[in-house]
Amino acid sequence: MAPEPEDDLMSEKNPRPLDEDDIALLKTYGLGPYSNSIKKVEKDIKEMAKKINDLCGIKESDTGLAPPSQWDLVSDKQMMQEEQPLQVARCTKIISPNTDDAKYVINVKQIAKFVVGLGDKVSPTDIEEGMRVGVDRNKYQIQIPLPPKIDPSVTMMTVEEKPDVTYNDVGGCKDQIEKMREVVELPMLHPEKFVKLGIDPPKGVLCYGPPGTGKTLLARAVANRTDACFIRVIGSELVQKYVGEGARMVRELFQMARSKKACIVFFDEVDAIGGARFDDGAGGDNEVQRTMLEIVNQLDGFDARGNIKVLMATNRPDTLDPALLRPGRLDRKVEFGLPDLEGRTQIFKIHTRAMNCERDIRFELLARLCPNSTGADIRSVCTEAGMYAIRARRKTVTEKDFLDAVNKVIKGYQKFSATPKYMVYN
Ligand SMILES: Nc1ncnc2c1ncn2[C@@H]1O[C@H](COP(=O)(O)OP(=O)(O)OP(=O)(O)O)[C@@H](O)[C@H]1O
Ligand SMILES: [Mg+2]
Repeated sequence: MAPEPEDDLMSEKNPRPLDEDDIALLKTYGLGPYSNSIKKVEKDIKEMAKKINDLCGIKESDTGLAPPSQWDLVSDKQMMQEEQPLQVARCTKIISPNTDDAKYVINVKQIAKFVVGLGDKVSPTDIEEGMRVGVDRNKYQIQIPLPPKIDPSVTMMTVEEKPDVTYNDVGGCKDQIEKMREVVELPMLHPEKFVKLGIDPPKGVLCYGPPGTGKTLLARAVANRTDACFIRVIGSELVQKYVGEGARMVRELFQMARSKKACIVFFDEVDAIGGARFDDGAGGDNEVQRTMLEIVNQLDGFDARGNIKVLMATNRPDTLDPALLRPGRLDRKVEFGLPDLEGRTQIFKIHTRAMNCERDIRFELLARLCPNSTGADIRSVCTEAGMYAIRARRKTVTEKDFLDAVNKVIKGYQKFSATPKYMVYN
């Protein structure tokens, strides 16, 4: 028995390397006589199953549905009914706020008041007093906070698409642009300047001047330049059928404006509602006046006005109510006069920019030929000159076309010009 361990030790010390036969033997270790063919059959079965699956198309397990034998339509229906539409209510009071057992008093319109808790999906910081909330119909728990109610027609007034007019498209009017930017841009870009001096920045601008001098145009340029929300209201939009509707719209308008970080409200043709108050003798009060008074109220605002700038445009400033115009409500009044020679030349250049004109047209001469004309007149001259060129089947507009157009528009249409009449008021 003794030599055996010695033999073991020997072989361990000096192990024989495995040769080919040994490796082949090791490889077959554990394999039965049929294992190779079994493996092949298994592979075949797998391939066949895959083929069948492909041919069958989508299975229920892929669509997420159980096989129809396991469907339980009745209880599913019951589940669905539990997710009812929410009811709108107003949260009128919070009892013991900022604690774990805070309760909320809600008022469901024309039903009743309830004291309720919060749903799972809302956190206590989301809910404030006086807020509109959505509650479920069973336990009246508050499920979602709702935004304040604002008339959709008011929401529609926000200008989302920026107009394509820039300050470069406004000819002349240098002072006016300067004044406008001072009010609109300076307080938004450098509020610290006003804080340092201790003054409130001007709150509003009234633009007035004869028709066609570019009041609306400049407001559009402002809307294009500013990053603030721009709301455009046409005066006549606020005149409504029912008593109190106009005033309510103004209120909601300013409410919406206040909810923005910075906002510019532009009332165009404000004389539609801002007319001076008068007694019509019948003792009836005027709905339009009430709307105007609501604007006045919102302008000096019992609520802080926030970063809201108000622009107004009209061509009959004399008809406006003095209350609307007093400093503190509209601090700035910017007059849009008729453009001077330089301004007119510039306007000519602006409107011919996109036109196919002859090389050296003397715009200054043309500007000299239309004294007392507005930007709109000059634009009409340019269009008319183009018409002359079309009539003569030319591809470019010549100076002669412009001269003819000046004759036609400025001299020919003089009796339609409203400017002299309006100059009396302005
Ligand atoms: N200063 C100007 N520069 C370039 N174009 C001008 C200028 N003024 C007026 N126009 C042209 O005249 C058109 C009418 O101007 P705009 O609508 O601004 O008039 P308005 O002052 O608002 O008149 P209204 O008081 O009747 O509303 C503009 O679309 C523009 O093409
Ligand atoms: Mg206008």
